[in-house]
Amino acid sequence: MENQKKVMVSGIQPSGDLHLGNYLGPLRHWPEMIEEFDCYFFMADLHTITVRQDPAALRRRTLTQIAQYIACGLDPEKCVLFVQSHVPAHSQLGWVLDCYTMFGELSRMTQFKDKSAKNADNINAGLFTYPSLMAADILLYQPDFVPVGEDQKQHVEICRDIAERFNGVYGDVFKVPEPYIAKVGARIMGLSAPESKMSKSAPEGCVFLMEKPEDIMRKFKRAVTDSDTENPVRYDPKAKPGVSNLIQIYAAATGKSYEAVEAEFAGQGYGVFKSVVGEAVIECLRPIREETERLLADKAYLESIWRAGAERAERTAIKTLRKVYKKVGFLPR
Ligand code: TRP
Repeated sequence: MENQKKVMVSGIQPSGDLHLGNYLGPLRHWPEMIEEFDCYFFMADLHTITVRQDPAALRRRTLTQIAQYIACGLDPEKCVLFVQSHVPAHSQLGWVLDCYTMFGELSRMTQFKDKSAKNADNINAGLFTYPSLMAADILLYQPDFVPVGEDQKQHVEICRDIAERFNGVYGDVFKVPEPYIAKVGARIMGLSAPESKMSKSAPEGCVFLMEKPEDIMRKFKRAVTDSDTENPVRYDPKAKPGVSNLIQIYAAATGKSYEAVEAEFAGQGYGVFKSVVGEAVIECLRPIREETERLLADKAYLESIWRAGAERAERTAIKTLRKVYKKVGFLPR
């Protein structure tokens, strides 16, 4: 029965263009999840302005991201796709939860420490209270699970603490969700610096979903490997991080096992290997890019999706918000 499915909520910040690491990591598995769970996916635009954004670029990326999610297989009929700022309940509950979140616990958040080190000239209050807004994003939908990467686990932990604190005072208002760390999903490293995760901040080693085939190929041809000539294509992430990353990418893009990949390139050099991996990635991304472009050309359709998404999200969100307002003692309008 539809309404007995477990509920899941997740957001992605439209703060950078989606790349291969996003895709082969979490994103690729989302279409399977929408079959199993009732899913809410949103573009976390409210969160992006904790660091300065170029307005036109933010709008473009938000739009592109919706199109990309659909192109990646998130059927908007089967899940709720929406833009965070379109559902005011996020900000409204965010404020309430600010008042149930402690200065001390926010000060201990690693992301806050990292981001304030990186943006020393703009350590704003939003950056600090980011976790209580994120808690609101989650708790509004009473989910069972929150699919996140390792780096976001601390945020789900604090969300649970906030929920429990609030429930402790007012009774069972919020469901306390579990983080959901996907069993599958690769951790793709940068092509130019395979010690760190693929990231838009190192664009030379980052393959974007919308990139042209020739640019993708160029990046793969320049990928960092090593000087092993004996039996070079071997999976050994410690000794051979660059090569192992390429094996991982190729395996994920083609569905082959690491052993099969090693066998396929036994006795071959890196030149051939890198081009074959590049070609496989180009073919893997081609349908997504083409579908994204097609969707972006149909703005009216996309608009109908985000409108419907916001309405559906709001229906759920508003119930939780009303309950919260009542519990804390706000006079009904
Ligand atoms: N903080 C998340 C990130 O940077 C994005 C996010 C915002 C999110 N709200 C959320 C993720 C709610 C899951 C649930 O990746």
